[in-house]
Amino acid sequence: MMPPPWPDTATIDASGDLRLAGVPLGAVAEEHGTPVYVFDAATFARRAASYRDGLAAHYPGEAEVHYACKAFLNVAVAQLALRHGLHLDAVSIGEAQVGRHAGVPGSRIHLHGNAKTHDELRLARRLGVGTIIADNLDELRGLAAVAREGGELGVMLRLAPDVAANTHPHIATGAAASKFGIPLERLLDAARIIAGEPKLRYEGLHCHIGSQITDLPPYRAAVRVLLAAAGTLRRRYGWTTRSISPGGGLGIAYAAGDPEPDIGGYVKTVAAEVVEGCRRAGLPLPKLICEPGRSVVGPAMVALYSVVAAKPLAAADGEADAYVHLDGGMGDNIRPAMYGARLTALPVRDARRPARRVVHLSGRYCESSDVLARDVHVPELSNGDVLAVPAAGAYTLSMASAYNHVPRPPVVLVQDGHAHLITRRETYRDLMARDAGLPDPPVAGPSGPDPAIATTQNPHRHTGAHACCSIET
Ligand code: LLP
Repeated sequence: MMPPPWPDTATIDASGDLRLAGVPLGAVAEEHGTPVYVFDAATFARRAASYRDGLAAHYPGEAEVHYACKAFLNVAVAQLALRHGLHLDAVSIGEAQVGRHAGVPGSRIHLHGNAKTHDELRLARRLGVGTIIADNLDELRGLAAVAREGGELGVMLRLAPDVAANTHPHIATGAAASKFGIPLERLLDAARIIAGEPKLRYEGLHCHIGSQITDLPPYRAAVRVLLAAAGTLRRRYGWTTRSISPGGGLGIAYAAGDPEPDIGGYVKTVAAEVVEGCRRAGLPLPKLICEPGRSVVGPAMVALYSVVAAKPLAAADGEADAYVHLDGGMGDNIRPAMYGARLTALPVRDARRPARRVVHLSGRYCESSDVLARDVHVPELSNGDVLAVPAAGAYTLSMASAYNHVPRPPVVLVQDGHAHLITRRETYRDLMARDAGLPDPPVAGPSGPDPAIATTQNPHRHTGAHACCSIET
């Protein structure tokens, strides 16, 4: 086993090959080309179980774990979530559709989002979505209208709890001034809308204070705010808050030496706060819902990139003396550019080589901010070497773009020595699939893409990192 941020099943074998679930990562890169994301089913399962079993052990009331699909979603992951007893937190109809397609009952899906349209709310009803998390008063009024057209709708109120957390400002959401959630002073206005519409069923209270949070006191504060609001609604309306959710947000290790936040400790702390708070306020124990995304899927994936070229640094820039250009970057992982995330990397072959060089691992996209890792220690690297970047599961592919018309990478699930492709690589044809062209096409020129290029799925397969324009099936 390797320490965080590597997945649970990561090992380096006797010949120096980096393996995941027994599968040599070099072989995955050979077969599927790079960049490719490798999903360790065991890490996902263990982390899901830490939430599920932790709640069962520490919370005397009913509890549910809702996997936050926005961290990473495909059909296989939705199936895995269901298999491991998780529900789904969807933030769009698209995510909810994947869940339904994967066999997740609508009743196990909650719909979030700060700008849900009436059409989306109607679609949510058609999909049988269990509960809508209302983010603002306008949405609540819309929900009331949709409920009148159809039938009863379950609603939780997302509050802006005015709780600060230590994380990157882009991913802090608990402030009173956040774009998310109903300000505390508008709680009774929200309650009035629900009380005025018999087809809206009040289920409970929700908040989410941010993401990549590694300390627990803000969660305790958030729970206290939710319970105070539950007390207010009980006094003023006689309502029972049947569900309560302090959201998701627990962080993970990204670089070597980063502390690994403990899911068990998180669950225990939140559970104890709810139990104690309810006891003090004389409230019945609500269902406790945790909504983790990153801390379940982040450490479960590793991204593989090929070294394409190196460029010595012309002028000093930190400790590094060169750029090492990779065949992926901000298109598949925008976190370093967007949140200053610090990543680390190891070669998949001869992984124990001493890391004597300090370089910047630069992406292939046409933007200076596209550097995946700055001042990172690596061994001597040659073009064609494959590097593995851990902690690559959350908010990477789910935020991926086809910037520069570079197809998005595939995902390969590894388990018990076997590898299965669970999302194929995007093709050049996929990238043009929505284009209609001009209504009156010019006479000269091809009528469609070169079929050989358009079906290319695997730019770097077999041919090495330099053959990115070679034509293959
Ligand atoms: N619940 C709600 C209502 C959320 O908004 C989120 C994340 C979660 C749960 C899951 O949070 P997690 O456990 O994954 O931290 N793109 C950013 C993160 C955005 C998080 C958005 N909301 C990043 O790459 O850091």
